[in-house]
Amino acid sequence: SADRPAFKVADLSLAAWGRNEIRLAEQEMPGLMALRARYAASQPLKGAKIMGSLHMTVQTAVLIETLVALGADVRWVSCNIFSTQDHAAAAVAVGPNGTVDAPNGTPVFAWKGETLEEYWWCTEQALMWPDGTGPNLLLDDGGDATLLVHKGAEYEKAGAIPSFDADNEPEEWGVILDLLRAEAARNPGRWTKVLAGIRGVSEETTTGVHRLYEMQKAGTLAFPAINVNDSVTKSKFDNLYGCRHSIVDGLNRATDVMLAGKVAVVFGYGDVGKGCAHALRGQGARVVVVEIDPICALQAAMEGYQVARLEDVVETADIFITATGNKNIITVEHMGRMKDKAIIGNIGHFDNEIDMAGLKKVEGARRINIKPQYDEFVLPSGRSILILAEGRLLNLGCATGHPSFVMSASFTNQVLAQLELHQNGGSYERKVYTLPKKLDEEVARLHLEKLGVRLTELTPDQAAYIGVPVEGPYKPDHYRY
Ligand code: NAI
Repeated sequence: SADRPAFKVADLSLAAWGRNEIRLAEQEMPGLMALRARYAASQPLKGAKIMGSLHMTVQTAVLIETLVALGADVRWVSCNIFSTQDHAAAAVAVGPNGTVDAPNGTPVFAWKGETLEEYWWCTEQALMWPDGTGPNLLLDDGGDATLLVHKGAEYEKAGAIPSFDADNEPEEWGVILDLLRAEAARNPGRWTKVLAGIRGVSEETTTGVHRLYEMQKAGTLAFPAINVNDSVTKSKFDNLYGCRHSIVDGLNRATDVMLAGKVAVVFGYGDVGKGCAHALRGQGARVVVVEIDPICALQAAMEGYQVARLEDVVETADIFITATGNKNIITVEHMGRMKDKAIIGNIGHFDNEIDMAGLKKVEGARRINIKPQYDEFVLPSGRSILILAEGRLLNLGCATGHPSFVMSASFTNQVLAQLELHQNGGSYERKVYTLPKKLDEEVARLHLEKLGVRLTELTPDQAAYIGVPVEGPYKPDHYRY
């Protein structure tokens, strides 16, 4: 029905372009293609109904079509209002064998530039199959799908949906509560059923994983979760080298400002911050790191970065990049003290690292939209600041996120996690797990040949001397890489 369309994307006519880029991406995603070759015949994901909430990009298209190739029934949304690549979404909806007039691909509900209402509408759509049932597996990035099904079921159990406190709660929470209220009227009891049908979730990112551990601690996690982020072949590659690639891409596509010589402040020197600081230094920017963790601060200093507090540099720096996964890193008060035309961007998962809500409320401030996902805010002082992607992750909002090769490593972990949950989910508790190191090493191994890497083999004698099997795993779980 018009109320529940089979899929919704911006423009199906972009599908041919999307398909060409997907075809090229497949060449750069050896891990995913190896899984297709290994499992296409045996269809190990047959019976899996996977709802995915993860940036609807070209790379994600290869992930989706890998899950389908392994037998899964998949529905998809983006996990950010700005991160969809419309040509990729169109190609996935049309499918490798469909046409624009007769699409027969994977139902995807995503377009670049959704409103918050549309974003949560999409999530809700993807969680309901045409027969009214829900998924049996979630594949999440940031935890929004996990949040919706848990909150929905929690309020059904309580018999009431809380009212929205507009003064103290983020605008988005009001949108979620409205959606749950509308669903409670249309489909009473829906979320309890959906939640009961879910065998597990695999979670992509630091922030989503953080939410899962909080739920585990509170005893509210309703199904097992696999923490994909903390596979070494995910966070030590995607978060680091992925951001090293896409931070500068996002800055350049939005602002085209010369980075060399500028003072760039990076907040957070975790995996993402390390990649960003490295890339900005590579462009000749003078990088200042802001950290709260003495270990990361010491790492930054010994890597040669100045480590300071925001107050020390707020009036003199040119570019501010948040990468903490924390909130209120850059406040409106800070913005008021910045240089004219200072550039502010966030590469962390959520937009609350920068006080965008506060900025939009500043009396006498004026917003000039330079182009999509790039705004100038003229402050009462007459000075202005430049904001990327409205404070949402700039590499996906202003550019195309990470390149295929590094996403292949991340997504190979995702597929392995989905396989494990589908085949053995019942043997896990309602806790958060990581994949075994053996599989982590396997993911890396699948990416060596493409780069012409020749791995050295241990002799049995050497293996015995350092106490590891010849075929691995080579490191204890506590090893940090
Ligand atoms: P991480 O935990 O490795 O690093 C975050 C760092 O921020 C930590 O070292 C922490 O000490 C520091 N930090 C926390 N509060 C701070 C504060 N008030 N001031 C200064 N530093 C502070 O996390 P990771 O993996 O680097 O991820 C960071 C964020 O980026 C997360 O939200 C994650 O989900 C997201 N992410 C985004 C990607 C993208 O493509 N845009 C890719 C991967 C992760």
